[in-house]
Amino acid sequence: MEYRNVFPIFVIFSFFIVGVICTETFSAEGFEVDPLIEQVTDGHEGAEPQLLTAEHHFSLFKKRFKKSYGSQKEHDYRFKIFQVNLRRAARHQNLDPSATHGVTQFSDLTPGEFRKAYLGLRRLRLPKDATEAPILPTDNLPQDFDWREKGAVTPVKNQGSCGSCWSFSTTGALEGANFLATGKLVSLSEQQLVDCDHECDPEEAGSCDSGCNGGLMNSAFEYTLKAGGLMREEDYPYTGTDRGTCKFDNTKVAAKVANFSVVSLDEDQIAANLFKNGPLAVAINAVFMQTYIGGVSCPYICSKRLDHGVLLVGYGSAGYAPVRMKDKPYWIIKNSWGENWGENGFYRICRGRNICGVDSMVSTVAAVNTNSE
Ligand SMILES: *[C@@H]1O[C@H](CO)[C@@H](O)[C@H](O)[C@H]1NC(C)=O
Repeated sequence: MEYRNVFPIFVIFSFFIVGVICTETFSAEGFEVDPLIEQVTDGHEGAEPQLLTAEHHFSLFKKRFKKSYGSQKEHDYRFKIFQVNLRRAARHQNLDPSATHGVTQFSDLTPGEFRKAYLGLRRLRLPKDATEAPILPTDNLPQDFDWREKGAVTPVKNQGSCGSCWSFSTTGALEGANFLATGKLVSLSEQQLVDCDHECDPEEAGSCDSGCNGGLMNSAFEYTLKAGGLMREEDYPYTGTDRGTCKFDNTKVAAKVANFSVVSLDEDQIAANLFKNGPLAVAINAVFMQTYIGGVSCPYICSKRLDHGVLLVGYGSAGYAPVRMKDKPYWIIKNSWGENWGENGFYRICRGRNICGVDSMVSTVAAVNTNSE
């Protein structure tokens, strides 16, 4: 379809639509999740995919992701969902033309199942009482910057079918901070957070870090500060379940939190904090991530309701020259869905307009230099 002609209409409507989506919660299970997006794209994407095509895609999908289903009934049910997700991917492709959307390992899951098993951010907005990071100078920031090239980022991990994203975002930020403080990159334990961190949000009764049922990075930093630190990944390996007991051994602490704070919503402040303090824990709305294959994601409309915790590791502009945002580069985000998702486990999302809420909840952490202890 022709976006040049349609885009002004999108601009006018997107203010209205984003407002509506933001006040609506996405808590409803099932496919009614983005009815508004559906309305917007209605009539633009042509007929439904042919049944044969869908069957073909589904058999490739099963092979590629080694899917097997317990019964024919389950198989047929998953095929139905898969077809809905094919149409969803086509819709996402229309709404997000600078990225590629298609079949992923999550293509047989409803949005509700996906959210429950692969996301896991408990809080939707920034805590009011959080310490704010000092405002940093923003001149002289490099054009492109990537902590992966500096050795501050561990290999992409996989949270499995457990809503523990918040623990991976937390360890990623502390791994980077610990690297800056000590010069050593040590992979840290998410399982310690999943098993031992039950820190509650002082502002919201009943909102506590709770293993595979979700948590919040700031609460996890608070826990880590109180507990004395995090153990190494290899000393407390990830199991992907929260049924175990806490096995924290305080004689084996590998990284300690000195302090943590939230970064102002300003994109330049986010870049300056990233550059100075290392990778940042950020929250995002993950709706476009279920179908993301690669490229720079820059959807015309995306809810800012935060439901996923990830790690901001860099930014750039190379190889991306969108008509819409000529001089707006992208953020580079480390996810926790394994290396087979996205761009070897990473996601790129455009900067400039708080797309999918990516600028709304950003935290920075500093580590204690344990070398001198
Ligand atoms: C946080 O801790 C680091 C390392 O000890 C220190 O350099 C920095 O000034 C602290 N930041 C704040 C805001 O207290």
